[in-house]
Amino acid sequence: MFKEMTAAMKQRMQVLEDLDRRDRSDGTEPLKRLRQIPPETGKFLALLAAACPDGGEFIEIGTSAGYSSLWISLALHQGGKKLKTFEILPEKIALAKETFRAAGVEHLIELIEGDFLEKGSTLGEIAFCFLDCEKHLYEKCFDLVSSKLVSGGLLIADNAIDHYEAAKSMIEKAQRDDRFDCLTVPIGKGEFVCRRK
Ligand SMILES: C[S@@+](CC[C@H](N)C(=O)[O-])C[C@H]1O[C@@H](n2cnc3c(N)ncnc32)[C@H](O)[C@@H]1O
Repeated sequence: MFKEMTAAMKQRMQVLEDLDRRDRSDGTEPLKRLRQIPPETGKFLALLAAACPDGGEFIEIGTSAGYSSLWISLALHQGGKKLKTFEILPEKIALAKETFRAAGVEHLIELIEGDFLEKGSTLGEIAFCFLDCEKHLYEKCFDLVSSKLVSGGLLIADNAIDHYEAAKSMIEKAQRDDRFDCLTVPIGKGEFVCRRK
């Protein structure tokens, strides 16, 4: 996967990494920042997505400019899978559209515009979910996604270490749920990995 990345994808990733770095250092207000994952988390997500079962949707909650979607898309080249990624803010939607066009992955990624908590309710079974929206929404997103996860399916939530307090109710709910095996992995900002038995 990583060795087959196209020049167009590498170039767009570099543009977004530069923008994200600039956002974090120039005082851009938090909700306007890209707030994207670091590259090592992207690689981790691609490896996990590649190991997910075939039957079920691949989804992402919180697209921003599409940086994490690009990493996940590396796992989709085989088997005709597609990623559905949900984003609520118009300015992020515009950036994500430009990302998917520039990186040449429009055929692999469907950008769904609007609130996941409304739009996601019509989803069928889910094989892979990357959860990376506002942390106070994590528990509601977990409630929506967890009952749709297929056996062997994964939900991975970002910021499980740096925003532990905000994510805690979702993390503890998943840990109490006998349907899942869970682990927080200390990579990037902390990835909470939850696998449906
Ligand atoms: C941390 S950023 C996502 C970063 C992205 N996953 C990446 O690593 O490149 C969170 C994004 O979630 C979006 N968001 C927040 N609440 C949402 C909701 N209810 N439905 C869809 N998107 C939402 C925000 O607008 C923001 O762009």
